[in-house]
Amino acid sequence: MVSVQSTKKKFNLYRMKLLVLNGPNLNLLGKREPEIYGKESFDDYFSQLKENFKQLSLEYYQSNIEGELINKIHEVGFDYDGIVFNAGAYTHTSIALGDAIKGVTTPVIEVHISNVHSREKFRHKSFIAPWCKGTIAGFGLKSYDLAIKSFI
Ligand code: DQA
Repeated sequence: MVSVQSTKKKFNLYRMKLLVLNGPNLNLLGKREPEIYGKESFDDYFSQLKENFKQLSLEYYQSNIEGELINKIHEVGFDYDGIVFNAGAYTHTSIALGDAIKGVTTPVIEVHISNVHSREKFRHKSFIAPWCKGTIAGFGLKSYDLAIKSFI
C-alpha cells in the first residue's frame, strides 16, 4: 500500500512543513533595541516570509516561557521537516532546550538576528548549537530567510 504522504512526494504535491520558533523577548521585535534588532515587527516580517515561500507550509510560534518552547519542540519534532529556532537569551542558558533538540528527529537550525559573537562574552556560548544542524547569525531578519532556504 502506498501512503498518502509518499504519493504526494512522488507527484511533488508535498509541502514541506517548517516551524519558525521564537523565544523570549522576540515578541517585542520592532520596539525592542531597534539599533540592534531593527524596526520591523516579526508579524509583518512573517507575512512576507509566507508570501516568499508559498511552496512551503510555514508556521510561527513564539513564547517567553522555556517550558512552552520545549513542549512545542516535542509536539512537532518527530513530524515536521525542520525548525528554524531563535532561542533568544535561552540560547546562552538552557541545557533543557539543548536536550529537547537532541531528543527529537526534526532538524533544527539556530538563528540569531544579531551577530552574537561580536557582542558580550556571555552571548558567545550556545547550549543549543551542538544539537543543531547549523547556526546563522548576524544577518538581521534575513537570518530566518537564509535558514529556511537551507531546508529547500
Ligand atoms: C538574539 C541574541 C541573544 O543573545 C539575545 O538574548 C536575543 C536575541 C538574536 O536574535 O540576535 O534575545 O537571539
